[in-house]
Amino acid sequence: MINEQNFIYHKSRENPQYLFENWYNNAKEFHFKTNNILFDLILWFVRFALKFSIKLFPELNELFSRDIVALGTVDKEAKPKVRMVLFKGLYDGNFSFFSNYDSDKGIELENNPRVSMTFYFRFPPRQIRIEGQVEKMNTNDSDAYWKSRGRDSRIGAIVSKQSRPLKNYEQLVEDFMNEKENVIGTENIARPENWGGYLIKPTIIEFWEGKANRLHDRYRFKFMDGSWFKTHLYP
Ligand SMILES: Cc1cc2nc3c(=O)[nH]c(=O)nc-3n(C[C@H](O)[C@H](O)[C@H](O)COP(=O)(O)O)c2cc1C
Repeated sequence: MINEQNFIYHKSRENPQYLFENWYNNAKEFHFKTNNILFDLILWFVRFALKFSIKLFPELNELFSRDIVALGTVDKEAKPKVRMVLFKGLYDGNFSFFSNYDSDKGIELENNPRVSMTFYFRFPPRQIRIEGQVEKMNTNDSDAYWKSRGRDSRIGAIVSKQSRPLKNYEQLVEDFMNEKENVIGTENIARPENWGGYLIKPTIIEFWEGKANRLHDRYRFKFMDGSWFKTHLYP
């Protein structure tokens, strides 16, 4: 047990990274169970209908946005910055995303590697907040993800000088078309050195589960002295 700023943390046998995976997969599968058999049956039908519709119309997947997460950084003047990025899975318990290392966020992270990331799942209603420090992903893993991207999205990443001023939108399209011509005949388009993955090593993982009457269930895990400690919080 650790008493920190009036929070009582208990050493936890649960691993929040596993719990995260569980919630994340449940959100992907629209898996949601209540204590009410009738409601569970209705949910089962809804889940079935959703999965069937997504099979028919994969674009529907976008509606649920489970991979779209808010990423918070801090700039040199200690001003917070938040933007959405795509979460790309856990690597050894670390939260990954990909970006341009020369973008504003890249520069902010170079200067201050502390970040926060927030997930929201609509179905079931849940939020997960992460705090931690980022480091750049190793080049092999960045290359592996780069290769998995479509050709045009690789070309798009090459021509985007992310966060830098652009004359007009037509300029971006022109840059893209020029690069497309440049790489005709090149099967393996190389990953630019200034583009790759980041890994967040979590120090805090906080879970929030929506319940009736605003009695939401909220608890925080904190990594201290090599173990995860847990405390409950008012929602
Ligand atoms: C749904 C969505 C997903 C996005 N995914 C990414 C991403 O994975 N990586 C990224 O660098 N930017 C992504 N962006 C763009 C960022 O929100 C942001 O505009 C960009 O990274 C520049 O941010 P910065 O100037 O703070 O560096 C995404 C935007 C949206 C709306």
